[in-house]
Amino acid sequence: MSIRPHRIAVIPGDGIGKEVVPAGLQVLDAAAARFDVPLEYEHFDFASADYWLAHGTMLPDDWFETLRGFDAIYFGAVGWPDVVPDHVSLWGSLIQFRRRFDQYISLRPCRLLPGIPSPLVGRAPGDIDFVVVRENTEGEYSSIGGKIFHDTDREVVVQQTVMTRTGVDRVLRYAFELASRRERRKITSATKSNGITISMPYWDERFAAMGEQFPEVERDQFHIDILAANFVLHPDWFDVVVASNLFGDILSDLGPACTGTIAVAPSANINPDGLFPSLFEPVHGSAPDIAGKGIANPIGQIWCGAMMLDHLGHPDASSAILAAIDTVLERAEPGILTPDVGGGGTTSSLTRAIADAVADAS
Ligand code: NAI
Ligand code: MG
Repeated sequence: MSIRPHRIAVIPGDGIGKEVVPAGLQVLDAAAARFDVPLEYEHFDFASADYWLAHGTMLPDDWFETLRGFDAIYFGAVGWPDVVPDHVSLWGSLIQFRRRFDQYISLRPCRLLPGIPSPLVGRAPGDIDFVVVRENTEGEYSSIGGKIFHDTDREVVVQQTVMTRTGVDRVLRYAFELASRRERRKITSATKSNGITISMPYWDERFAAMGEQFPEVERDQFHIDILAANFVLHPDWFDVVVASNLFGDILSDLGPACTGTIAVAPSANINPDGLFPSLFEPVHGSAPDIAGKGIANPIGQIWCGAMMLDHLGHPDASSAILAAIDTVLERAEPGILTPDVGGGGTTSSLTRAIADAVADAS
């Protein structure tokens, strides 16, 4: 049987993106070989400072047509502030992808890994293992509003939150479906209906309605303030956490922070309908301070590869990568690990060890 290969657009971007993306591909190749996953890569040099220097823009005019036919985008990091201001590089590339490809889910797994110290005292691997599902297109981040009576005592500023039934239901459905596939089958909703008394009760109403379609999923909800506190105090309470754009933005930084270093944290921007490619990128940026030294930790990027394989319908290959990351971190060989996690190794030593562990997966 011949299977159509998954077509992956590979965009390393800037700085350590150019080091961790090849590392991630090395591990993807190991998983593809071990589990018979047909992957086909095409490499692009746009969304980078080099491209900006050569062309004066971050993206070619036809980027949308070029990328839209791919099954996924495997992205490194964009940003090189010495050359392009950060708001220009980010809004000129990544934000365009997220918007035009209607990547309405932002997904951030938060899992404490072996050998990575948590800033939360007394937490061990297994204690923290949840996913933040953030609405990524509407909510509090709308551009509806304005300012009148500039520079007078009557100055008025208004910015509207926008919640549509379509927008709210589609993120809730995705989160419930995710929860129903996970072992604990638990979902927590971030609300603030005691303070934001129109849109948040609406969010709660839709959450309850969606929950009725998923009776197997246990649900609870917290106001955002105490929810943030509970991320720190009781991270073991959570499995899938679903939130509006603003609350999700905050939780999706707080969650990974509870699991240690951002260098190992992955994220995905997903269009679940499959109308457009989804984008998989580590949480970290281009790290100009260590770029070019060959010591960037590749785990965040490698984990993104696991998320991408899961998204493309290969959960076994995905789990094998996660298990390989755990195995290598548990071994804690100082010559293998990168300096940010206490080793004296390099991007390539850590990558090779993980790729070898994937190849050996049973
Ligand atoms: P950053 O994440 O690039 O670096 C923050 C700190 O973490 C640095 O000390 C860096 O060395 C360290 N670090 C990050 N990733 C690491 C890794 N894989 N291994 C070891 N250490 C690692 O954030 P920063 O410095 O604020 O931003 C640098 C550039 O990246 C800026 O241009 C910024 O706009 C861009 N950026 C891009 C993002 C993206 O593409 N989604 C996300 C965050 C920042
Ligand atoms: Mg953020």
